[in-house]
Amino acid sequence: MAFQISEDTFQSKSERYHYLQRALPALLNGESNFVANCANTIALIQSQFHFHWIGFYWVEGESLVLGCFQGPVACTRIAKGKGVCGTAWSLAQLQNVPDVDAFPGHIACSALSKSELVIPLITAQGEVLGVLDIDSEQMAFFNDEDERELSGLMDVLLKSSGL
Ligand code: SME
Repeated sequence: MAFQISEDTFQSKSERYHYLQRALPALLNGESNFVANCANTIALIQSQFHFHWIGFYWVEGESLVLGCFQGPVACTRIAKGKGVCGTAWSLAQLQNVPDVDAFPGHIACSALSKSELVIPLITAQGEVLGVLDIDSEQMAFFNDEDERELSGLMDVLLKSSGL
């Protein structure tokens, strides 16, 4: 690996994202295995943010199925259109939920989750492969910067993996 993981060196969100913008392409460089790249992407983001839960759900037929993640055990399958993840998939649109208790149909995997950001992973051909799901223990944790930066990191993951 061509770089050092910087744990807790940065103070602000912007500094952490600036580091991730540089670190993720370096981490994924030369590796096309999607599972390996997803696992390392999650671990790298988590090294900076220590979210309550972060991971992927992948489209399989009419369900999303749990992929690699960091955090407490989670629901294995989510039906299309259900919860925040199923909504992001069916609409092919990012969902930023400041208060999960106010989201109709939110699937509570953990009572500690207060806000949630779900970003669909869409290929260059327009196919939704799955979603990145992040849960925070803080209300309204995610803002425009998180939406933009994390979407950009997902683009790096897809492109590095040839998708
Ligand atoms: N809360 C999510 C379910 C997944 S867990 O948070 C890991 C939802 O409503 O889609």
